[in-house]
Amino acid sequence: MVSYKELGFKNTIKMFEIALKEKFAIPGYNINNLEQLQAIINGCGETDSPVIIQISKGARDYANQTMLRYLGQGGVEMANDLGYNIPISLHLDHGDSYDLCKSCIDYGFSSVMFDGSHLDYEENVKITKNVVKYAHKKDVSVEAELGVLAGIEEHVKSEEHKYTDPEKVEEFVKRTQCDSLAIAIGTSHGAYKFKVEKEEDIPELRFDILKEVKKRLGDFPIVLHGSSSVLQNYVKIINKYGGSLKKAFGIPESQLRKATEYGVSKINIDTDGRLVFTAMIRKFLTENPEVFDPRKYLGLARQELTEMIKRKNEEVLNSAGKASLIV
Ligand code: G3H
Ligand code: 13P
Ligand code: ZN
Repeated sequence: MVSYKELGFKNTIKMFEIALKEKFAIPGYNINNLEQLQAIINGCGETDSPVIIQISKGARDYANQTMLRYLGQGGVEMANDLGYNIPISLHLDHGDSYDLCKSCIDYGFSSVMFDGSHLDYEENVKITKNVVKYAHKKDVSVEAELGVLAGIEEHVKSEEHKYTDPEKVEEFVKRTQCDSLAIAIGTSHGAYKFKVEKEEDIPELRFDILKEVKKRLGDFPIVLHGSSSVLQNYVKIINKYGGSLKKAFGIPESQLRKATEYGVSKINIDTDGRLVFTAMIRKFLTENPEVFDPRKYLGLARQELTEMIKRKNEEVLNSAGKASLIV
């Protein structure tokens, strides 16, 4: 058992307090490997942005929970070595049980999500509440979810959005005492968020629901999952160099900016980073067939991801320059 405090991670309480005050969103970036972590630390360090490093079930299956915790810890030390004074939270993304949340808390995570969105309401309340009870004893923050995102939400498939019911949020937060709430307003996971032919046909998020939720919860941290924009320049590179991504569209960055202005405090981005990596590696290996040193193409992908993160922090989330207000 280890406390996240000894490892140098921060919980999300102060991050959200300042995010709400200054109207920006904390980035939730996912990691599965070393290069993604380095890109996150460099990208957030160079832009002086707070960051929530997310570990999903898929990541744990791929890279091992212990390895990822140590990677996160290495990230904190790397940031210190480089003189980046940014708050870093290590977060369990889409925890699906009390036991998993507990094991991550005991293992040094500073924040966990219990995703009971697919459960019936009372069951979601019950488990979230238990997770909160355990987490708060150790100052760990808890993200909960109400409403179901369409698409695949960690082994839960839903054909349609079940938008968050604003009438339920107040009671849910009050009963569970969660620290932040993920809501469903039309975002979804992955690279195929909309069944449209072209970018111009992407519908607006349900900002009416967001406004209603904000009206009821006031200054309470709201989270958006599934918020990659599926950046078309990388989709094009992937397709040009042998890939086949058809009609892959995400949430336009203009809408994410709007969500941030309306008071969303955390925005989760994973797919965009995956697209950057795949685009860079496909292009590099096609153009340099003689190269077989992974550092060459992974290094290039890492650099491009760093640039993407810097741009997201600066132009979309408005989190750049805010770390110094928190630490
Ligand atoms: O919320 C979903 C994240 O993008 C993680 O997905 O389980 O494939 O790592 P994953
Ligand atoms: P994207 O698939 O849109 O990047 O969403 C990631 C996410 O919500 C992680 O929890
Ligand atoms: Zn998610």
